[in-house]
Amino acid sequence: MNKKFFPVVALILSAGAINAVVAQTNKPMMKAIVIHQYGGPEALKYEDAPRPEPKDNQVLVKVIAAAVNPVDAMIRSGKYAKVFGTTLPLIPGYDIAGIVEKSGAKVTRFKPGDAIYAYPMWGGGYAEYDLVDETETALKPKSINFVEAAAVPLAALTAWQALIDAAKLSPGQTVLIHGGSGGVGSFAIQIAKTRGAKVIATASTPNQEFLKQLGADVAVDYTKQKFEDVARDVDVVLDSVGKDTLARSYGVVKKGGFIATLVARLDQAELDKHGIRGASISVKPNGAQLAEIGKLIDDKKIKPIVSEVLPLTDAVKAQEQAATHHTRGKIVLKVAEEPK
Ligand SMILES: NC(=O)c1ccc[n+]([C@@H]2O[C@H](COP(=O)([O-])OP(=O)(O)OC[C@H]3O[C@@H](n4cnc5c(N)ncnc54)[C@H](OP(=O)(O)O)[C@@H]3O)[C@@H](O)[C@H]2O)c1
Repeated sequence: MNKKFFPVVALILSAGAINAVVAQTNKPMMKAIVIHQYGGPEALKYEDAPRPEPKDNQVLVKVIAAAVNPVDAMIRSGKYAKVFGTTLPLIPGYDIAGIVEKSGAKVTRFKPGDAIYAYPMWGGGYAEYDLVDETETALKPKSINFVEAAAVPLAALTAWQALIDAAKLSPGQTVLIHGGSGGVGSFAIQIAKTRGAKVIATASTPNQEFLKQLGADVAVDYTKQKFEDVARDVDVVLDSVGKDTLARSYGVVKKGGFIATLVARLDQAELDKHGIRGASISVKPNGAQLAEIGKLIDDKKIKPIVSEVLPLTDAVKAQEQAATHHTRGKIVLKVAEEPK
């Protein structure tokens, strides 16, 4: 296994199974972005694909919106296909919001017509219809539209599982959040504030005011200032950058503290040297956590940030932007009109 990318393996393993969905025949058709050959953005083809059928534990969702994540480009490249077990053809997309079209025989919590959002483990979000397991799904927060809802699942679950499940962030603690203006970081800041933590967040110059708007107590411009000069003796670090940023982060955590990284393996010798613990996070779908996050959204404690909305046909442009690693909040593909 490629050690560097192991945290996203669980996420990407799912893509292989999409093959089976795409390969079905004699089914009703739908529009989708299909990858037949790994490669650059040009590998994304807008075309007709068979509409999938839900298994007993799944719901078929009419997708209204699907968000784009940095991992989508990694899957598309095929560079790690062997490691991740992906097979072609596949439909990318790990964030959807839409309406339940059909429920599998054993589904009890969702019925046709329900507005839902989900991180589908099996991908397939860049399409008019997608399948999600019942356990991956939650009712869409009522106070936001489908485009905003699609921006939530994968990024917010990552922040939640890193800060709450892994780091056990608690009131009064201080957390340093790298990449605070991005998809994960923008949720992480808000989630940390709901936990009563003090937040120090990093981003580049144009995002300094934005970090404050998200609730950061201290904003650090990583292009102008070393975060070590501001963040000392923090309880928790959330790292979404890796490399030098992660290497320099061990030293700012107080003894007994915690580093959660999304993009690398941790150096056990460094953890031991500083008397701290850590985890490499691999986000998992979780409908129950999405329901909790949804309540915080409806209570106006958390707000999804959508920087750009593009039609499904512009998936190439959307992935090119996401691959810059400088997106503010999320880019969302609008697949169908918002229901009235
Ligand atoms: N392991 C997992 O389960 C998992 C889950 C989700 C995401 N991820 C990974 O985590 C990373 C972040 O995901 P994302 O969706 O949040 O990405 P994103 O939306 O592209 O955000 C990246 C953020 O990082 C900031 N940034 C770039 N260089 C930086 C630096 N040197 N120091 C501090 N901040 C910097 C950018 O801010 P500026 O524009 O201001 O530079 C931007 O806000 C990606 O590599 C993604 O693949 C892993």
